[in-house]
Amino acid sequence: MKLFGVLGDPVSHSLSPVMHNAVFKALGMDCEYHAFRVSTENLEKALYGASVLGFGGLNLTIPLKEKALDIVKPTELARQIGAVNTVDLKEGMVGYNTDGIGAKMALARRGIEIKGKNVLLLGAGGAARAIAFELAKDGAKVTIANRTIDRAEALVKDVIKIGKAKASGFEDLKDLISDSDILINSTSVGMYPKISETIVTSEMMHKDLVVFDIVYNPQNTLLLKEAKKAGATTIDGVMMLVFQGVESFKIWTERMPPVDIMEKAVREKLA
Ligand code: ATR
Repeated sequence: MKLFGVLGDPVSHSLSPVMHNAVFKALGMDCEYHAFRVSTENLEKALYGASVLGFGGLNLTIPLKEKALDIVKPTELARQIGAVNTVDLKEGMVGYNTDGIGAKMALARRGIEIKGKNVLLLGAGGAARAIAFELAKDGAKVTIANRTIDRAEALVKDVIKIGKAKASGFEDLKDLISDSDILINSTSVGMYPKISETIVTSEMMHKDLVVFDIVYNPQNTLLLKEAKKAGATTIDGVMMLVFQGVESFKIWTERMPPVDIMEKAVREKLA
């Protein structure tokens, strides 16, 4: 039996156990995935403990993703993003960030190319950082719009080292959206319990727009409802959650997990 887990605080509501355990069951693997409450100050001990206990791999969530950079050996991308969400324990402790790849694969699965596309990314927090780096690296032209423009500018300063990015506040959103192919909400706006909030409404959108909300609770956010009203293509946050898990699973096991089974497990748990 091989153990896997997610470390965080709080962590009891994590959907990762149900998602990964569904895969282990489907593939007949003798593995289990559990959630462990670990504080920032105990992260180092927990990582070494898991390593000597023979864990197959770990995910990290709030508030441990940044602290892990000082402990594990991060990939270049994780270091640029400034956060680790996946630790591979096969040889030492290597830290990856699969959040941005998760977003990219959620788009790819729907046949949406990002190279050369104008992407408007709302938000400049941790999730936005991961997405911005990944999309810019693959040739998207990313506009990062944040309520606090200073944070968007700080992120752009980092992202332009590897690709195309510019910063904005929220004043010109309508014009920015009319020039955009893809709109991604990486803020927490619209998340339960404040489900009647959205930064962008239908009259600001167009039917050729792809609208991707990383919020997954609720699955059908107000932003996505507005996008449907405008005739836009929509992608919900469950797909990013699932695909960051797909990438973690591939890193740990070198196997491709069944995406549909992961998606079903997450949607059932959320419902
Ligand atoms: P995460 O790691 O989940 O991205 P975060 O680092 O706290 O979380 O970032 C939250 C993001 O949501 C930020 O971009 C934040 O904007 P500010 O930088 O201006 O704070 C954005 N956000 C949260 N609540 C918001 C609101 N009511 N309106 C607009 N943006 C909001």
